[in-house]
Amino acid sequence: MRLTGVLRLAALLLALLGAWVVVQSYLERGWRAVSLRSWIGATGRPSGSQPPRHACGNRERCPGEHFAFKIVSGAANVVGPSICFDDTVLMSGVRNNVGRGLNVALVNGTTGRLLRTAIFDMYSGDVKELETFLMEITSGTLVLTATFDDPATKMSDKARTLFTNLGSSYASQLGFRDSWVFLGAKGLSTKSPFEQHLKNNQETNKYDGWPELLEMEGCAPRKMD
Ligand SMILES: *[C@@H]1O[C@H](CO)[C@@H](O)[C@H](O)[C@H]1NC(C)=O
Repeated sequence: MRLTGVLRLAALLLALLGAWVVVQSYLERGWRAVSLRSWIGATGRPSGSQPPRHACGNRERCPGEHFAFKIVSGAANVVGPSICFDDTVLMSGVRNNVGRGLNVALVNGTTGRLLRTAIFDMYSGDVKELETFLMEITSGTLVLTATFDDPATKMSDKARTLFTNLGSSYASQLGFRDSWVFLGAKGLSTKSPFEQHLKNNQETNKYDGWPELLEMEGCAPRKMD
């Protein structure tokens, strides 16, 4: 009886030892797997920790019934401007559809669809082309504009007035090699809040002969009027 009791106790201890060994080795493998995963994570986590990307690469997400946009003017006479609307780059150097002067994209303000893009050489071009283009814009159209190099040598009072009627505050004073970005609309009854202007000024110019480029991003309400 006594011997059986000792054997039983020994068998129980053996079983406990076996269980401990199994659990221990399992845990160890588990730890190794965990530490390997965190090591991989430290060198190249695929994503998840990056800040969310919004339309046009903008900092803010636009509320419903709004279109995200980003307009960047040209840098001196070197880097072309770019116009993004509703997460689509409408005009850029990469798309090869920008040029010196005024770069303009027309968008349907209800659907957000691109109607057309145009470049107006304002140094040696014919301003009549710009005037005709601006006069033909129909109500409900959004007008996105970015300058590159010189937007004003051939500028006319008529073209300035047409831009002013689209909601611009600075078209009337746009000068030689100024930087200007603007989003307006045909039929706007007030001044557009989406406009920036930098005068070409030897004292403050960032580049030799040109001011700093302008970058404007925001959310344009659908049917801006
Ligand atoms: C915008 O698109 C709508 C729907 O296709 C159309 O009815 C409207 O005339 C367009 N407006 C402009 C300014 O293109």
